[in-house]
Amino acid sequence: MRLSRKSGANLFGLCPFHSEKTPSFSVSPDKQIYHCFGCGKGGGVISFIMEIENLSFPEAVAFLARRANMPLPEQENDRESKKRARIYALNRDAARFFYEQMNTPAGERARAYMAQRGIGRTTATNFGLGCAPDEWSALERAMRDKGYTDYELFDAGLVKKGKRGGYYDTFRNRLMFPVIDVQGRVIGFSGRILGEDGPKYLNSPETTVFNKGSNLFALNLAKKSKSGYILLTEGNIDVVSLHQAGFDSAVASLGTSLTPEQARLISRYTSEVILAYDNDGAGQKASQRAISILEKLDLKVRVLQMSGAKDPDEYIRLKGPEAFARLIEGSENQVEYRLAQIAKKYDLSVDAQKVDYLREAEELLARLPGAAEREVYCRRVAAETGVSPEVLIGEVKRRRTRLLRRTEAAERASPVRDSQPSGKTIRYDDPASAVAEEGLIRLLCLEPSLAEDPRLPDAAGFSSAALGHIYGAVRGRLAAGKSVSADVLSGELSGDELSLLVNILGRPEALSNSARALDDYINRIEERRRAAAGGQDLMQILEEKRKQLKEG
Ligand code: CTP
Ligand code: MN
Repeated sequence: MRLSRKSGANLFGLCPFHSEKTPSFSVSPDKQIYHCFGCGKGGGVISFIMEIENLSFPEAVAFLARRANMPLPEQENDRESKKRARIYALNRDAARFFYEQMNTPAGERARAYMAQRGIGRTTATNFGLGCAPDEWSALERAMRDKGYTDYELFDAGLVKKGKRGGYYDTFRNRLMFPVIDVQGRVIGFSGRILGEDGPKYLNSPETTVFNKGSNLFALNLAKKSKSGYILLTEGNIDVVSLHQAGFDSAVASLGTSLTPEQARLISRYTSEVILAYDNDGAGQKASQRAISILEKLDLKVRVLQMSGAKDPDEYIRLKGPEAFARLIEGSENQVEYRLAQIAKKYDLSVDAQKVDYLREAEELLARLPGAAEREVYCRRVAAETGVSPEVLIGEVKRRRTRLLRRTEAAERASPVRDSQPSGKTIRYDDPASAVAEEGLIRLLCLEPSLAEDPRLPDAAGFSSAALGHIYGAVRGRLAAGKSVSADVLSGELSGDELSLLVNILGRPEALSNSARALDDYINRIEERRRAAAGGQDLMQILEEKRKQLKEG
């Protein structure tokens, strides 16, 4: 990034967070802060790294510490983390080894395979693609020469124990895809067979640094995409050819169906997911499952319908990138897709089946969060089935009321257990309010400008003294025009409070709509306070009202 002095003490340049032609991004070297007059982003070193690298607060701190060759204080003497660091280094060396094999005679088969699949050199380099030679201990030898022990290789999942003692390479005769996490560390590998017989993929086993269910292939690249969505596919080859064709936000899960952890990870980088699973029964089922997981996190979901090709890779090869782009543009949103899936089960020309279809559709429509959305789709289904829209809208409304009553009752029956802080000394009296209070603290740290909102609650009524204290400290600093971060607050907080704060800041926050998030947190806190003030909770009051009506 080029910065130049326009006037006064600040430097100006093109903003890295939005596209522009005239510089509106200012940096104050004295104050160590930045601000963009175009898109409004601003902050300090840590928030800059969080934003540009898409990292959480503790990750950004670790990132900066690594860059400056500084040990992280709490990790200095931690044997586990030293071991992990060693595995990361080993993985990186292994990736380099596989990559270098591509240019040797041992890589011939892999080179031919890549050529056959149309994967170019630049793409291969971008992904660090490599090849595992068709030998039993090529990697083991190379890594031992670099000073790694068999034990470390085993811990990293790169060798397996032989029956008669000794070790052999896990990956042999395969096209190798390093799996790189969002912090740029090589955490494991996927290896695809160089042909069509046998299980297609072999992935690293679970290790101290690799867990299939909580990582996604190529998210390290996709997180930087400006497309506004993440494309979710099944296969690594699909991902590679999508990126090659310019769809730089493609990722794949690592041989599992989408997990809630993966969905949460995705939700840190985007608010919209486009499903591009294989065009077969398994793919459709996987789509259905993924939709319900993604929906729970308020992610918008669309589903690609690729006709005439089995997967995105084939689609692009047969019809070209432009056709794929059109497919994305015209892709169904998840409501249309699910309605179509339900409709498929019934013959709508038979009245009895139409009734069944309507019942199932109503259940789906009742779960849509937006009122406008519910109405739009009610009208569509009504038109499709020939019933009156008012009747359908009324029915969906009744179902929704029933549904909300049920979920609130369920929430009441099982209080939010895991929202208690992990330390033993701090307990929340009212976990539901505490979650909102934590959110408010996080939001203020990430977006200090929100501290001026006159509706902000005061610390006195917070659900635990610790949260109140943290919140007070944050607001105090912001009111004095000072910056906030865990390090500068450490002087004002107890050890437990500080680790609670780091924990709070480590959780994701959707900054794309911080004003809405703020409203939401404030409303929730106020609601709990009102309920507490009346000595009863809202549900209790409703319950009593209902009883009175029945009796009266
Ligand atoms: N899979 C896996 N491990 C991975 C990636 C995928 O086990 N790291 C599994 C998926 O669970 C799915 C299948 O492999 O069952 C995906 O196959 P496919 O989409 O066909 O993979 P591609 O890489 O696209 O291979 P190709 O298109 O060449 O057949
Ligand atoms: Mn495929």
